[in-house]
Amino acid sequence: MIGIGNDHAAIELKHAICEHLTERGIEFTDYGIEHGEKIDYPDMAERVCRDVVSGKLEKAILLCGTGVGISISANKIKGIRACCCSDTFSAKYTRLHNDANVICMGGRVVGPGLACEIVDLFLDTGFEGGRHQRRVDKITALEQKG
Ligand code: RB5
Repeated sequence: MIGIGNDHAAIELKHAICEHLTERGIEFTDYGIEHGEKIDYPDMAERVCRDVVSGKLEKAILLCGTGVGISISANKIKGIRACCCSDTFSAKYTRLHNDANVICMGGRVVGPGLACEIVDLFLDTGFEGGRHQRRVDKITALEQKG
């Protein structure tokens, strides 16, 4: 199960991505929000990322105006490796090398076509492991040090 969450600055982008996921037959949970609602991006990041860490979600897509605030928030949660992304190369390599479990994008930064390509690479690319596992383990160790 994939989770998707957004603040009020990325409602249209969220809809475009949800439509794309539906077309691909990918099951997802939409954590909101919709037109007329507002949420601070750290609250949405926490809501979705807790479910990633618990294992309820395999991966998540988080959206705010820039993608930056929500990615900074997500990366504060132990077990989250969130990549703020606006290009396809990074989307691919953050899976291959960082085993990213959250991708973040900005509704004021990327258009729907590029965002859907980024989502596809994020969902379809596996972690390479090997020497990259050692580095991901070091990220986890940094979390423990606080
Ligand atoms: C909300 O206006 C905006 O600050 C937020 O969506 C995001 O861009 C923060 O990083």
